Amino acid sequence: MSQDREASPPTREGDGGFFHRLFGRSTGPESSPGSRPLDLEDIQGIIVRGYRMPIVRHFLLKVDAPAAARKLLGRLASGDEAGAPQITTARDWHVGFEPGPGDNPAEPPRRKPDYCLNLGITWPGLLALEVKDRVPNLSFKSFNAFIAGAAARAERVGDTGDNGPQHWIGGFGTESDHVMLTLHAASPEALTTYSDRLSALIVEGQAFQEIWRGDGMALMEMQDGKPVPVNKVHFGYVDGISMTTIRGGPERYKADHQQPCEPWLFVLLDEAENYFVPEPAELGRNGSFAVFKMMRTDVVGFEEFLQSNRERIDPELLAAKLCGRWRNGVPLALSPDTDSPPSGISPEQLNNFEYVNSDGSGDPRGLHCPVGAHIRRINPRGQPVAGQGQPGGSNNNHRLIRRGMPYGPVYDPAQPYDGIERGLLGYFICSHIENQYEFVLSQWVNDSEFAGAVRLDPRAKDPLIGTQDPAESIFVIPQASNAPPIKLTGFSSFVTTRAAAFCFLPSITATKFIASLK
Ligand code: HEM
Repeated sequence: MSQDREASPPTREGDGGFFHRLFGRSTGPESSPGSRPLDLEDIQGIIVRGYRMPIVRHFLLKVDAPAAARKLLGRLASGDEAGAPQITTARDWHVGFEPGPGDNPAEPPRRKPDYCLNLGITWPGLLALEVKDRVPNLSFKSFNAFIAGAAARAERVGDTGDNGPQHWIGGFGTESDHVMLTLHAASPEALTTYSDRLSALIVEGQAFQEIWRGDGMALMEMQDGKPVPVNKVHFGYVDGISMTTIRGGPERYKADHQQPCEPWLFVLLDEAENYFVPEPAELGRNGSFAVFKMMRTDVVGFEEFLQSNRERIDPELLAAKLCGRWRNGVPLALSPDTDSPPSGISPEQLNNFEYVNSDGSGDPRGLHCPVGAHIRRINPRGQPVAGQGQPGGSNNNHRLIRRGMPYGPVYDPAQPYDGIERGLLGYFICSHIENQYEFVLSQWVNDSEFAGAVRLDPRAKDPLIGTQDPAESIFVIPQASNAPPIKLTGFSSFVTTRAAAFCFLPSITATKFIASLK
């Protein structure tokens, strides 16, 4: 089935875009995708940059006094750092030790803030801020999921049963989840300083009520007798290796086979091919959408699952088959038999692989990396899938940018039942929630038809994050030389959704526009 599976708005086909022709926008070279540089001063930093800061605090706010609330948002985008912490833009600066494209790495960092701040507003939040009342031509016509909200769309992405909105914490999924403020900090001291400043501002003039807050922190590991932050998740995997490169974006990532993604897939831009920028333009342009998600990870269940199958498959190999990478980050696509290939794999090459090449060669049957493994489902790269049948073709239209961090202390196998909740929380960023976040979770994570020619067991779901029913669950690991595949069954979900919200990430212009509404 073609990309029609993607949600409602009619797709724009052919270069230059059907709507460009319909609405008389020129299809000359200047309007070709990626031609206009991104307006980094206006775009929220979190959309196109990884902050590489070890701590994050998410605040969920309910609007109390709309006028005061709008005014406060304006102060966060005023440029007046003394008056209030400022929303972080994508402007090039040194953050977290990574120079921006405009920076000379040899020179000392020009600006290394100790915090980053970002703003998200749900549809109920835009209503509570009375934006709809004050902007008659307000339109989010291409964004039904955003308007409906995460709770109303939960079933589509497998957030049912224990994952259902009826179990979500902190007011998520109720009509009170209006505004999210996300504070990244370079140190615990910086977190306290800016968190306290925000808390004081939030209640000024009864603008907002804080209804929930949640912290994330990089896991710490002892190295040379000192605790250091590491880029891992609680299941023990190295994370943050696969990055999504944006054409003309400010960040440079590891070598990667994949085509850079069109900027309109992450920043709301007029040259987009499958949506209209929200109106008015000063509210919509340069914005984006982010799905906030908090997911509890059942580390004990996961480790027990690995051990309980050790008669049939080595536990570390099973962990690799479930994810698509060994726990040290080495991809199965580059090293199917060991996480330490004798020739070694440089960190630069950890994301430089393909599953199926344009000539159909590579690993079409998933003998190295199972077609049903987490990273291969969520980003099939050049593998032909339903709707994109070309080997070596691009599945970029469904790509996501992840801005997440673990929550809860490091898991201690010596104290498995310590009763402490652990998981992952953060944002999945995209310009179209239906075509990217919902599509990936509904069509690729929780369904198996996507794999086209490779007939996966129809009951199979993403083994790491799929919503499993032990009576149905199955993970099939194909074996070489026609040996029968290893079939693992009867396992439960290893991940449970604890909270979710669909947020609009307004540009600086949009935030000032909202603040200007009388
Ligand atoms: C607690 C839940 C989750 C865990 C523990 C987890 C773990 C991982 C790990 C270990 C990787 C490989 C590291 C890397 O390539 O950077 C990965 C990659 C990825 N995950 Fe997840 N993940 C979780 C939930 C999700 C969800 C809900 C989504 C999307 C909706 C998602 C999207 C991705 C993407 C896009 C990649 C990169 C794949 C690639 O480009 O090759 N993950 N995840």
